[in-house]
Amino acid sequence: DMLDRGGFPHFMLKEIFDQPRCLRDCMSGRLFDDKVILSAVRNNRARLLSATRFIIVACGTSWHAGLIGKQLIEHYCKIPVEVDYASEFRYRDPVILPTDVVIAISQSGETADTLAAIKLAKERGAFIFGIVNAVGSSIARETDTGIYIHVGPEIGVASTKAFTGQLTCLTLLALALANAKGTVDHDEFVSLTKELGQIPDKIDKLLKENDCIKQLARTYTYATNFLYLGRGWNYPVALEGALKLKEISYIHAEGYPAAEMKHGPIALVDNMMPVLFVATHHEGYEKVVSNMQEVKARGGRIIAVVTEGDTEVQKIADEVINVPSTLAPLAPLLTVIPLQLLAYHIAVEKGLDVDQPRNLAKSVTVE
Ligand code: G6P
Repeated sequence: DMLDRGGFPHFMLKEIFDQPRCLRDCMSGRLFDDKVILSAVRNNRARLLSATRFIIVACGTSWHAGLIGKQLIEHYCKIPVEVDYASEFRYRDPVILPTDVVIAISQSGETADTLAAIKLAKERGAFIFGIVNAVGSSIARETDTGIYIHVGPEIGVASTKAFTGQLTCLTLLALALANAKGTVDHDEFVSLTKELGQIPDKIDKLLKENDCIKQLARTYTYATNFLYLGRGWNYPVALEGALKLKEISYIHAEGYPAAEMKHGPIALVDNMMPVLFVATHHEGYEKVVSNMQEVKARGGRIIAVVTEGDTEVQKIADEVINVPSTLAPLAPLLTVIPLQLLAYHIAVEKGLDVDQPRNLAKSVTVE
């Protein structure tokens, strides 16, 4: 009832608003200005440092977190990382080497495909590292080691706080490994740990945009299709934003890397097609802005998520949502928040059952 939902009309909204507190919990005892302490890394140092490759397996939203995890680990640790859907990995006869480390990401810890994927990898000699929310779950028990997300139970079927918790854990993992390997310079390390510590406060600030996003959502209930575009760190965020909209608003939405737009999706753009751009002030920004101009020229309606203080996008986009400025690798922790809220408010406006969307399950324990 209302009490469990902490006064919020839905679990999903409560969980969106819980994110600052949840991420503080997730970082507590792990993140310090000059170090990151993860017992899973400390206790398995030799095995993790000798890994020649990481393979991330996951499903759904957790797979999107994995795409960002790949960028984090490659950028800071200089180790190649592959990201696979657990359901594809297990049926593909994948090459698994004894020097591989498989990272399984799962909110519930009960997803059948992810569990089967790690059993296969284990049989073939890989070391298995879990990033799991549900303590004592099947995946948590099956892994060799891992870190709990520690964001508390997630009830809404559409994952929100687990996603930002997964990103936080992946950032901590990449930093802990990079520090141990000596692949990140000290100043960069410290600027990142300090900035990560600021993220919960920045999300608090961002959540104040809720009423504006609610207003904006009213304008888009007519849409039957939506395109989400982003580049680099924000490309997986575009995928995740589109997934949120599909899951709870039943609006067909596609996420794409912005530069791929010209290889297909642009053919769909007309004045009935809203296009959401994640266009923060980081590498690739100018290119995303030029994609925006291309959409504008074809009559598409543009919603843009930008870094506060941006003036250029203001001139092109129909709607602008500001997020606080941060370092590029941490941008997804902020840019995903307005996309969660947008999907939520569109679904509510359409009168849909946000916490229990049709045909979906919170955890898929059968194939
Ligand atoms: C289901 C849920 C999604 C979730 C996915 C993976 O599809 O509806 O929200 O992302 O499973 O679940 P997991 O618990 O393994 O993260």
